[in-house]
Amino acid sequence: PATEEMDAVALAQTAAATAGDLTALSAAMQAFDQCELKRGARSFVFSDGNPSARMMIIGEAPGREEDRAGNPFVGRAGQLLDRMLDAIDMGRAHDDPTRSVYITNVLPWRPPSNRTPDKDEIAMMLPFLERHIALADPDLIVVMGNTPCQALLGRTGITRMRGNREEVLGKPCLPMFHPAYLLRN
Ligand code: URA
Repeated sequence: PATEEMDAVALAQTAAATAGDLTALSAAMQAFDQCELKRGARSFVFSDGNPSARMMIIGEAPGREEDRAGNPFVGRAGQLLDRMLDAIDMGRAHDDPTRSVYITNVLPWRPPSNRTPDKDEIAMMLPFLERHIALADPDLIVVMGNTPCQALLGRTGITRMRGNREEVLGKPCLPMFHPAYLLRN
């Protein structure tokens, strides 16, 4: 029912707003019980990389490998992403904020069979994502694939959107293909 969804979004907004740092945000998200995906997932997957990085990368949701490991982008798509970053002398292991990246997803729990997150799931987790961006405070946001475009820009169409500079929460935002798409094509 629509009211239940609104309650979940309102609860998420309150929980997200009261998180004063990334540790508190992670705890608030783990304690959030309104998203059904939490019950089917093995792990809560928050982020990886350097929280002080100038660039924040946002993917969709954990897949099977990420659900096992509890870390984002560790499967094949993540390995391709690491190689792409390495090619431009960047990576999540760098200490230098201009060379490092900070990585998270729209959803912290794996959807069953890696299905695309639905709009209610995105809506109830969006307050946490927006707070995550505000707390990490990057200079550039990179959104990979349609799910983070839908969440943060309110529209999809990554083939047309990729490479065109957008704005999210007052920050420059660049859509790009998801590395899983690049592996398939
Ligand atoms: N795909 C994503 O969008 N995120 C991950 O963490 C892994 C694969």
